[in-house]
Amino acid sequence: MTNTHELNGNSKKIVMSGIRPTGFLHLGNYFGAIRNYVRLQDEFECYFMVADLHSLTTHPDTKGLRANVHRVLAENIACGLDPEKSAIYCQSHIYQTGELYLYLNMLAYKGELEKTVTFKEKARMSPDNVNAGLLTYPVLQAADILLHRATYIPVGKDQEQHLEMARTYVNRFNHRYGNIFPEPQAFNFSEQLIKVPSLDGTGKMSKSENQMATLYLADDDETIMKKVMKAKTDSGPSEGNAQKPDYIQNLFGLMHLVSGEQTVSHFETAFDNCTIRYGDMKKQLGEDMIKFISPIRQRATDILLDEKYLQNVMVAGAAKASKSAQQTMEIVRIAMGLNYF
Ligand code: TRP
Repeated sequence: MTNTHELNGNSKKIVMSGIRPTGFLHLGNYFGAIRNYVRLQDEFECYFMVADLHSLTTHPDTKGLRANVHRVLAENIACGLDPEKSAIYCQSHIYQTGELYLYLNMLAYKGELEKTVTFKEKARMSPDNVNAGLLTYPVLQAADILLHRATYIPVGKDQEQHLEMARTYVNRFNHRYGNIFPEPQAFNFSEQLIKVPSLDGTGKMSKSENQMATLYLADDDETIMKKVMKAKTDSGPSEGNAQKPDYIQNLFGLMHLVSGEQTVSHFETAFDNCTIRYGDMKKQLGEDMIKFISPIRQRATDILLDEKYLQNVMVAGAAKASKSAQQTMEIVRIAMGLNYF
């Protein structure tokens, strides 16, 4: 059987990912996802999408949607996503998404969908709004990916099950209608996944939980310093070369991300010989965080003020993404036998 996806004259691997337009981006999003996107754009054909339709499954009130879509675009571009290199677009601008979603829905079984972890969680959180869109969320996500016949999907661990389901639909489709779609897989750079610890020593930075323990890319300098200075410490190690408690290890972890090597080793040494003053360390970390975050925040603010620019990005992104989507759908309709003349 021919591999249609390899016959389109395109040898570059195709990368696709979606970003939900909810909440403010934080340092964990940056080091966990966006930084990877930025690196991928030089090597691959990339599609980065704002998943506005997905947000309708849980947020039917669209009053804040426009502002959220603009902000998520501005923040991602401020972090280095480049509209010249990648297709940066909104899901709702690509009409073919709805069509492929419909076809894939016929290959998705209710029982399987009901077992999805994210579905069960969301159904538990909002028992009054367990709608069919929520149930078929993974099908819509598969449509996003398959529209571009993408194979590398940079996503976090929480999305693994959705990718597994996308592969299931690929196999069912290919088996029934011919070998049209390649299997998508999660993509990570070989280095280990970076966990960005929260400032209170529990868990990682998160969009919604404990805002004081999370550094947002939109935080102003004063807020950044205040959050860092509030981070939990103690009176310091009482013997040389002691093991670091979790919350101290976390501060070092954060320092590794934004401070120079010399700075980190200065405080490592001070810890090991018990001369460390956590107040000084946090002040240094606060300053380095500000140096890291504030240029991103300023770029994002500038972009947000330039509505014309954002519009141009969305129009150009939609043009690139629909071109690829249209090519796929022509093949899909023929493969499915939906060509009557
Ligand atoms: N479900 C993803 C999330 O919650 C967002 C998303 C939508 C996505 N479509 C996608 C991710 C396609 C990767 C590929 O983060």
